Amino acid sequence: MGSDGDKLEIPAHDENFFLPDNTVKNLDRIKKLAKRHPINVLVAGKQGCGKSTMVRQFASVNNRPLATFQIGILSEPGQLFGEHRLKGGETFYQQFLFPKAIQTPGCVIHLEEINRPEHPKALNMLFSVLSDDRSVWTDELGHIKVADGVVFFATLNEGDEFVGTEMLDAALRDRFYVSLLDYLPSDIETKVLNLKAGVDEANALTIVNIANKLRNNSQEPMIISTRHTLMIAEMVGVGASVKEAFINSLQLSNDILESVLLSLHVEMRIKGAGNGKEYRLY
Ligand SMILES: Nc1ncnc2c1ncn2[C@@H]1O[C@H](COP(=O)(O)OP(=O)(O)OP(=O)(O)O)[C@@H](O)[C@H]1O
Ligand SMILES: [Mg+2]
Repeated sequence: MGSDGDKLEIPAHDENFFLPDNTVKNLDRIKKLAKRHPINVLVAGKQGCGKSTMVRQFASVNNRPLATFQIGILSEPGQLFGEHRLKGGETFYQQFLFPKAIQTPGCVIHLEEINRPEHPKALNMLFSVLSDDRSVWTDELGHIKVADGVVFFATLNEGDEFVGTEMLDAALRDRFYVSLLDYLPSDIETKVLNLKAGVDEANALTIVNIANKLRNNSQEPMIISTRHTLMIAEMVGVGASVKEAFINSLQLSNDILESVLLSLHVEMRIKGAGNGKEYRLY
């Protein structure tokens, strides 16, 4: 959660982050709209598909500070704002990073797992900040107003996309733009493994092809995120064979992997290359 001492910084830019064209365009429009008033964007997509990275990139590309808050762990309404502490027998109020972030012009605020607070009341004060009046009253800090140009990105975790948005108060949901992210098409994922994990293109392609076979296995499809193919590629980068890297990264029987490898021997090219042309670096 952080305390007042936490700095708000512009995050580093990821030079190898790809997004679909239309997502990039949408983010540019969000930036323009944020000049008029604060904006809320809901980012939904499966685990490890790049949600957090996209939020970070938005801040980085637009030279804005970023602050991230785990909403999923909140258990009381005022918890984001600060807490009473004891020092030398006296109590004092320690302000946290959240009130500072929302009062910082242009700040990008990432709210993780907004659909899963431990206590539903924990969202109450957050709701005031996200809805039209963009302000909240706290006994300790008084009246807090959201600064100009602030952009809130709320992310939802895997499989919760719809449950999650349903769970948000309807009036609040109504105030969010939505951005849906998906896993990358094969050719772009291959490029990402090559660029980020430093494996050569041939190995990157093999990893993506095997991952896709497992993902598209009609009997037992596996969810394998970009995060995970990157982990596998990094393992190969430090000397593992592709097979060893898969076995040591996923719960996968040797038999299944062998049969995938066999079937790929006869078709070593990009499978279902998809719409990679519509992607670009962000
Ligand atoms: N489109 C992409 N281009 C380049 N790298 C990507 C892309 N998508 C994901 N990655 C990489 O995969 C890893 C996981 O991404 P990230 O943490 O942003 O996913 P997430 O959707 O926030 O995951 P979670 O659901 O677990 O919060 C990061 O190392 C990220 O850089
Ligand atoms: Mg994330």
